[in-house]
Amino acid sequence: MKTENEKPILCLPISKETFVPALLDFFRQHARSLPWRKTGDPYKIWISEVMLQQTRVETVIPYYERFLSKLPDLVHLAEVDEDRLLKLWEGLGYYSRARNLKKTAKEILATGRMTMPASYRDLVALHGIGPYTAGAIASIAYGEPVPAVDGNVLRVVARLTGYGFNILEPSFKRAVEAFLRPFIPDDGTAGTFNQALIELGALVCTPGTGSRCGAPKCEQCPLSAYCASFRDGTAQVLPVRINPSKRTEQKKTVLLLQYGDMICLRKRSDAGLLAGLFEFPTLDGWYEGEEIAEVLREAGLSPLGKEPLPPAKHVFTHMDWLMKGWRIKLADSTVLPAAPTGQDLFAVPVKSLEQYALPSAFSAYRKLL
Ligand code: ADE
Ligand code: SF4
Repeated sequence: MKTENEKPILCLPISKETFVPALLDFFRQHARSLPWRKTGDPYKIWISEVMLQQTRVETVIPYYERFLSKLPDLVHLAEVDEDRLLKLWEGLGYYSRARNLKKTAKEILATGRMTMPASYRDLVALHGIGPYTAGAIASIAYGEPVPAVDGNVLRVVARLTGYGFNILEPSFKRAVEAFLRPFIPDDGTAGTFNQALIELGALVCTPGTGSRCGAPKCEQCPLSAYCASFRDGTAQVLPVRINPSKRTEQKKTVLLLQYGDMICLRKRSDAGLLAGLFEFPTLDGWYEGEEIAEVLREAGLSPLGKEPLPPAKHVFTHMDWLMKGWRIKLADSTVLPAAPTGQDLFAVPVKSLEQYALPSAFSAYRKLL
């Protein structure tokens, strides 16, 4: 659910006393044995979390071991020469992560400390450490009850709460942190809690059939009894991920088909974008006047005059419509149904248009009636 000012609100019908043991028991029974889970050293946990941010667990393991055997503490990292550092990182990709680690190590030493800052607040104050990494280090190394929300956790919480909007919007991450905060145990096991959520996402509440790890295994999930997606059967379609850089553009030709005082409408398909709403008849792609006349004649209509209308753009969440418009005068003798049947054209008096749900994508053309 989203409120009017677009802040997502998440809720789950489960108490802390049920949620936390379910998750921690799962972790105890099923957690993978990973080298960074055998240490309480905040420096080692930092290195592991940075490596894990863009790289798979299996790939990270040998790099983690080698990196720490060569650079076992902050001082070694701060003093390593760049070529040697990049060599240790070779194959992991995203090399700016390595340079950033060294820069942050120097930043810490410059404050006069020889060891990692000892709280979330002091960690997140560093230039090179963001909220996720600070949360992971503080909860895992110090047991501080702070969230550590990575992509796994976003997915798990979106499914648990049945969140149907774009999870890549920054407001969702903040909402997940706020949602989790009351559940995070303050008895020193916050790090286990956070890693259990990550582990649930990695092993059980997996991304989906298109990904390497396949569909979510809800039948094995300790939280299925409380999960909105399990209840609604939407685990395979959630979460919604709309990457802002992956916007697409679609060209459309919008037709104002008019005769007498009538305007033609069509009901959109019951599935997909603007499902079940009405539209001015719209063609995919840009058509010129003569091509449109041809299409209309094939549909049994008699176009008489055609007038190009100004282009218009409509911005949807993940797509833009680039529209060209045409006003087409049909013969006054045209006979079309007065109400929609399926997706056939129908015609209504212009003054009755307001009775039909015409999406704002068409408002530039509606104004021209
Ligand atoms: N991904 C990010 N942090 C992780 C962790 N601590 N264990 C496993 N996978 C992770
Ligand atoms: Fe994810 Fe399924 Fe568990 Fe819900 S029941 S949290 S969708 S694995």
